[in-house]
Amino acid sequence: RLLIIDFGSQVTQLIARRLRELNVYCEIHPYQNVTDAFLSEFSPKAVIFSGGPDSVTRAGSPRPPESVYTMGVPILGICYGQQVMMQQLGGQVDGGKISGGGGTAEFGRAFVTPVENKLSILDGWFADGKEQVWMSHGDHVSRIAPGFEVFGTSPNAPYAITADKERNFYAVQFHPEVHHTPNGKKLYENFVRLAGFTGDWTMGAYKDDAIARIREQVGDKRVICGLSGGVDSSVAAVLIHEAIGDQLTCVFVDHGLLRLNEAEEVVSMFRDNYNIPLIHADESELFLGELDGVSDPETKRKVIGKLFIDVFQKHANEIEGAEFLAQGTLYPDVIESVSFSGGPSVTIKSHHNVGGLPEKMGLKLVEPLRELFKDEVRALGRELGLPEKFIGRHPFPGPGLAIRCPGEITREKLEILRKADAVYIDQIRKHGLYDDIWQAFVAILPVRTVGVMGDGRTYDYACALRAVTSVDGMTADYFPFTHDFLGETATRIINEVQGINRVTYDITSKPPGTIEWE
Ligand code: XMP
Repeated sequence: RLLIIDFGSQVTQLIARRLRELNVYCEIHPYQNVTDAFLSEFSPKAVIFSGGPDSVTRAGSPRPPESVYTMGVPILGICYGQQVMMQQLGGQVDGGKISGGGGTAEFGRAFVTPVENKLSILDGWFADGKEQVWMSHGDHVSRIAPGFEVFGTSPNAPYAITADKERNFYAVQFHPEVHHTPNGKKLYENFVRLAGFTGDWTMGAYKDDAIARIREQVGDKRVICGLSGGVDSSVAAVLIHEAIGDQLTCVFVDHGLLRLNEAEEVVSMFRDNYNIPLIHADESELFLGELDGVSDPETKRKVIGKLFIDVFQKHANEIEGAEFLAQGTLYPDVIESVSFSGGPSVTIKSHHNVGGLPEKMGLKLVEPLRELFKDEVRALGRELGLPEKFIGRHPFPGPGLAIRCPGEITREKLEILRKADAVYIDQIRKHGLYDDIWQAFVAILPVRTVGVMGDGRTYDYACALRAVTSVDGMTADYFPFTHDFLGETATRIINEVQGINRVTYDITSKPPGTIEWE
């Protein structure tokens, strides 16, 4: 196995992700835990030092134990990891200056060019004579350690790629794990091959490890899991159930703002396919009652968030001996809340989740998906045998249809919206477009418009179709449907859904729009 020593970089998990893509088993451990004893017990086949926010020029900044250099295994140092390696092995690192030549602070895209010598971890690099890389550093190496040679340089990082070939120590100033270093994965691939990994680790093995970890964490205690029917909480629930069986109880809160047939589908999937103990809390009267007359988007979100917590707590209290709360938190959720909490960013929308519950209820968290990205969660779901229909589902927001119904929410509008949404999604599936789209839905607009059907006048609601492509939901583009598709869909909605006589297509990207309408 491979050890990643984490010095606090925002993108350490991306290193792990690249390695998983290469079917290599790795573990991330924070530098504080990596002692001499830890290293000999772990016995890694190779080590990667992550980047980090500190400066090696500062006394007391993070270091790996010196013994890592005498274990006889390949080491790859990235950014801070490169600098720490250089300093410990006898080189020199200086604090960055923002301008000037030869070794300055550098943020963003840069180009590295090769130096005459060949290096095996650079196989496949420099086909065009240079490689785009992503730099993000204040300090820089000003003298390399004895035994190292230079293999790549950039205008602001003369020692962009260095190596001690004898000892198999490699050090790069840039981040090969990020998307903006397009050939970065190749570098990792070369490194792990050189370290002797054959690439036979799989998501199945990840599943087995995750199950073992859950068993160890939970022991014989009980776990409750809030289930939304979305892919994340479903995968978390099935995984935990596989680990601890009936010690898990799921609570599915139906707030009356779900899509057509959604509650039945979710409940039957869990009861029929998995026999997972499940409380189906039909609380639609409560939620819709409290939302009566509410039209402000933030108020809607707050009302729903608070009720959700109340209801969840009410049902959870009935579960004897529950000590743990399971959540389908993903890595992007973790890193966003870490990097942005307390930060200067404004609240665009109050996202509804079960945050706040664990402390209030004195529960400990079980978050088995914390280190995974969405597509990896889907792969894990497949490994667990979840039906494809669930795995590939578009994301659905916690407040549900409430935020797709601008203005006041009425049962009549919700009913119309559900039907229109079902027709739209059916169209998308029929045309084979569902998997090309990040998210698609209908919003019912708070206006009635005049139309003519047959020989009569109509005065019904207008709706907007939304479909976007996105990688992570943070930015998005509208989906380029053909006019034929849009025309056919509009006709079907107007013919099949009583209450709608006008269909529009939302062509706003994010930013400046958001994906949801509220
Ligand atoms: P926006 O509308 O902010 O949405 O561009 C980005 C992504 O987040 C989803 N979303 C939510 N998910 N609780 C959730 O669990 C929420 O309150 C919430 N609001 C938006 C949205 O559907 C999209 O995928």
